[in-house]
Amino acid sequence: MANSSRFDPSRRIRWGTVSCIAAIIFLAASVQVCVALPSANLLSYELSKHSDQHVSAATSKERELLQKYQPYRTAFHFQPIKNWMNDPNGPLFYKGYYHLFYQYNPYGAVWGNIVWGHAVSTDLIHWIYLPAVLIPDQWYDIKGIWSGSATFLSKDNPVLLYTGWSNASTQVQNMAVAANASDPLLRSWSKILENPILVATAGMNSSNFRDPTTGWISLDGLWRILIGSKIDKNGTGLALLYKSHDFVNWELDHPLHSVANTGMWECPDFYPVLINEKKGLDTSANGPLVKHVLKASLDDKKHDYYAVGTYDSNANIFIPENKMIDVGIGLRYDYGKYYASKTFYDDNKQRRILWGWVNESDNVAADIAKGWSSVQGLPRKVWVDDSNPHGIKQWPIEEIDDLRHAKHSKKNLYLKQGSIFKLQAKRATQLDIEVIFDLPSHEQQELVVNNGMAQIEAQISCTKVGAFEKGVYGPFGLYVLATDDLQERTSIFFYLEHSSKGWRTLVCSDQSRSTLLPDVDKTVYGSFVPITKGEDFLSLRVIVDHSIIETFAQGGKVCITSRAYPIRVNDDSAHLYLFNHGNQTIQVQSIVVWEMSNVVFDSY
Ligand SMILES: *[C@@H]1O[C@H](CO)[C@@H](O)[C@H](O)[C@H]1NC(C)=O
Ligand SMILES: *[C@@H]1O[C@H](CO)[C@@H](O)[C@H](O)[C@H]1NC(C)=O
Ligand SMILES: *[C@@H]1O[C@H](CO)[C@@H](O)[C@H](O)[C@H]1NC(C)=O
Ligand SMILES: *[C@@H]1O[C@H](CO)[C@@H](O)[C@H](O)[C@H]1NC(C)=O
Ligand SMILES: *[C@@H]1O[C@H](CO)[C@@H](O)[C@H](O)[C@H]1NC(C)=O
Ligand SMILES: *[C@@H]1O[C@H](CO)[C@@H](O)[C@H](O)[C@H]1NC(C)=O
Repeated sequence: MANSSRFDPSRRIRWGTVSCIAAIIFLAASVQVCVALPSANLLSYELSKHSDQHVSAATSKERELLQKYQPYRTAFHFQPIKNWMNDPNGPLFYKGYYHLFYQYNPYGAVWGNIVWGHAVSTDLIHWIYLPAVLIPDQWYDIKGIWSGSATFLSKDNPVLLYTGWSNASTQVQNMAVAANASDPLLRSWSKILENPILVATAGMNSSNFRDPTTGWISLDGLWRILIGSKIDKNGTGLALLYKSHDFVNWELDHPLHSVANTGMWECPDFYPVLINEKKGLDTSANGPLVKHVLKASLDDKKHDYYAVGTYDSNANIFIPENKMIDVGIGLRYDYGKYYASKTFYDDNKQRRILWGWVNESDNVAADIAKGWSSVQGLPRKVWVDDSNPHGIKQWPIEEIDDLRHAKHSKKNLYLKQGSIFKLQAKRATQLDIEVIFDLPSHEQQELVVNNGMAQIEAQISCTKVGAFEKGVYGPFGLYVLATDDLQERTSIFFYLEHSSKGWRTLVCSDQSRSTLLPDVDKTVYGSFVPITKGEDFLSLRVIVDHSIIETFAQGGKVCITSRAYPIRVNDDSAHLYLFNHGNQTIQVQSIVVWEMSNVVFDSY
């Protein structure tokens, strides 16, 4: 394979020791950011405030510096060499290769000119960039190739469905077939002559009609797909169900499911899961041991909501286990930044894998300056939570473990009130951390239903606790991407909040002190953690990769993804700490820290 435009993160120039003691000067309209150069010692440049309004505000000097040093580029998360990326599309496994398509702007670091970017991998970690597969060249997609999915019509016959943004600015559904099925890299796709195969019909709004799912075969032997939509007059979000005998001619069935006041449902996803088993299932599977997950990306809230339920394949409707936590008003895949996600069935290892888009928390000018925007979260395995039939669990795919090298571990640490414990780790910008704490209070736990109300409460509590740092049981947890003076730090912590029905356990990801840069979204994210009877521990897995932090609490029951842009933390100066600000001692049963390798992405 050719090596024409190889991007090697290991060749990223280290920042060296940043020694700009007094150089972070906050001015009325700008902030000085300092980077140490290998030769020159100090260099500062300005990031304009309120730059969202002035897309061209990034100076050529800023651009040059950020492109040169790229401190926020990730070492093992998927991202293109440059430019804008959003939703993952049509993931699939074919003839030994995993394929990832993604919403991509070939011309810049902001949204626009959307095509399907393409990359392949044999392990879901090391990717090879391939040319875009679908570009706007027909009247029905001339304004953009929007999101969609892949379906295998037979073992050697993968097809893609996608939303085209037409010459008339309507959303229509189109199909492309693999032009050369013997090419394992699936480099060439043909749009079929029948396109568009699906258009909005009377009573529908062609501006709210997008993102076809992977197809499945229902009990009547017909193909089914979902398309995300909304009822304009009352704001009901819904998944429209279509049926077909040949995958080309489609007929509107009825909504599979809808929920009032949830607004437009983007990127619906619908898949079977086994009860009490981690094994994944092909999308058409159903039966007595099967539950279904329905996910919608809420356009208004910009979060991915799901519900576990039953798919009645006679009536072709979805019945949630618990109507109180239905799609859009209940559980979320992730309580941080995570959107437009999509799963696929990995036939290779019999598992279901989830991809999700993680956007930036900086601003448009900063994105233009650094030349790229967005990363994909690590692929996660998903299965239904045996301790909680209403929820799923998510865990980074096992292949990630291959990137672990140097290992540091400790057992039985006692974190007294106000204590901070520095952990050994070189290059703490790339870490995989697993820590298990004793559940500090064995008094009754309130089982909080994670509905919309609880989500607001959790976020408020996490913000308050993050700011005041005082309690009985916690906050306790980790400081990652921290400077040694802790001026910059991102904290991931647990906190037990007292309620009339017992303790409620929160897990929080606090970005409020993550960077000295002002123009960054520093939201504190959080969620309640369901603690099952008999569980006597609290656990965290935290994966740090330069500017992204993925947190998996309690074995993947609750996930939080966040972004951080520290300016004084570099590969040599980043630190990792355990801390406890509660007035009760916390026992750390064990902590294991792995340093993580860089992944080199090649271009074909
Ligand atoms: C879009 O293209 C189709 C096919 O060429 C044409 O019939 C139609 O008039 C065009 N619509 C607009 C708004 O340009
Ligand atoms: C189809 O792909 C195979 C495998 O990559 C290749 O050998 C063959 O030349 C391709 N055929 C065409 C028509 O491109
Ligand atoms: C259709 O949807 C668009 C986008 O949400 C909205 O701006 C427009 O008003 C809707 N049209 C009608 C007729 O409701
Ligand atoms: C919203 O409108 C649809 C279509 O008219 C209707 O079927 C549905 O019951 C309405 N939902 C609510 C909550 O009013
Ligand atoms: C992206 O991030 C911004 C700021 O952090 C947030 O407000 C916005 O809703 C996000 N967009 C999506 C689609 O996730
Ligand atoms: C521990 O903290 C709680 C909450 O701030 C407080 O009410 C309590 O008195 C403290 N206990 C001790 C022993 O300091």
